[in-house]
Amino acid sequence: VPLASYTTFGIGGPARWFIEASSENEIIEAVRFVREQNLSLFVLGGGSNLLVSDSGFPGVVLHVALRGIEQQSLGSVTRFSVAAGEDWNTFVSQAVDQNCGGIECLTGIPGSVGGTPVQNVGAYGQEVAETIRRVRVFDLQTQSFVDLKAQECGFAYRRSIFNTSSRNRYIVTHVEYELKNNASPVVSYIDLKRYFQDHDGLPTLTEASSAVRKIRQSKGMLIVPGDPDCRSAGSFFKNPVIPSGLFAQIAESAESEVPNYPAGEGQVKVPAAWLLDQAGFHKGYTMGKAGISRKHTLALINRDGASASDIAALRDAIIAKVAAKFEIRLEPEPVWVG
Ligand code: EPU
Repeated sequence: VPLASYTTFGIGGPARWFIEASSENEIIEAVRFVREQNLSLFVLGGGSNLLVSDSGFPGVVLHVALRGIEQQSLGSVTRFSVAAGEDWNTFVSQAVDQNCGGIECLTGIPGSVGGTPVQNVGAYGQEVAETIRRVRVFDLQTQSFVDLKAQECGFAYRRSIFNTSSRNRYIVTHVEYELKNNASPVVSYIDLKRYFQDHDGLPTLTEASSAVRKIRQSKGMLIVPGDPDCRSAGSFFKNPVIPSGLFAQIAESAESEVPNYPAGEGQVKVPAAWLLDQAGFHKGYTMGKAGISRKHTLALINRDGASASDIAALRDAIIAKVAAKFEIRLEPEPVWVG
């Protein structure tokens, strides 16, 4: 099975074995196979944050395809227990339609529910860490299913134990979100504030979520099938957090004001997109079959039949140039497979 068709990048060689699990039992079976054959394991969700190598994956790719959404209303909140294989965006719409708030700004993000705690998906002023209550996982170390409380997941910006300290230890099977009933949306991100500046009173969850969808679309961050600007893994680099001293240095030599966000004592977060632009990597930049989206600087794209090494070459060129110009080492956001 070529993995390209399972990724939003549309890139990647074959998996030696490909197993789809639709139940917790099928996960146990797949894991048994992996152990008996002494293979390596890669857990695939929605494929929206991956760059799969051209040689593919030399072990078992386990596609987590568990489905189902259960909900329970408890006065002012509703708890949703969502299976990892559910489409994230479909779940967001379902919650918004019921006027349950907390994830309305996370509209239009491709991928599956199981991936959301792994990288603590965030956008437009919200991140899933704020609403996740528990994550149900299969623990490959103890060979059993465990329910982890949110506090045990170590959530931070685009981080959790699942992509850091306990990488490759757990397979996410269900995520429980606790959403607020009859909620008002979070309108904190600058783009959203601007969108609603002439709006009378607070927008509804539906209005906020459709605003986010429009903003994402205008930035090429909404997956539109067939649009080459969308053959990407969203943001390709994390927004770096740098010491205030270094920021002051950059601000001093910059020609215009440098966009930035506070990031704790003595630190500043700078948009990677701005750094790329300054380093000469503009919207629409091309390097062979790889390139930069014409709508957003931070989305590296597969222009037409790019290989993983084409993307990697552009990635490395960007990292080198930004490091030389700013003394900042950009970190890729998507997971490299193979
Ligand atoms: N900017 C540019 N050029 C561009 C785009 C942006 O210079 O082409 C600068 C501008 O100064 C702008 C700033 O970067 O104000 C921030 O841009 P934007 O609001 O588009 O957000 P971002 O920092 O590039 C982050 C997330 C996105 C998320 C948006 C909205 C990361 C790595 N990326 O992008 O997440 O949707 O904010 O909240 O944190 C993803 O992780 O895949 C992703 C798409």
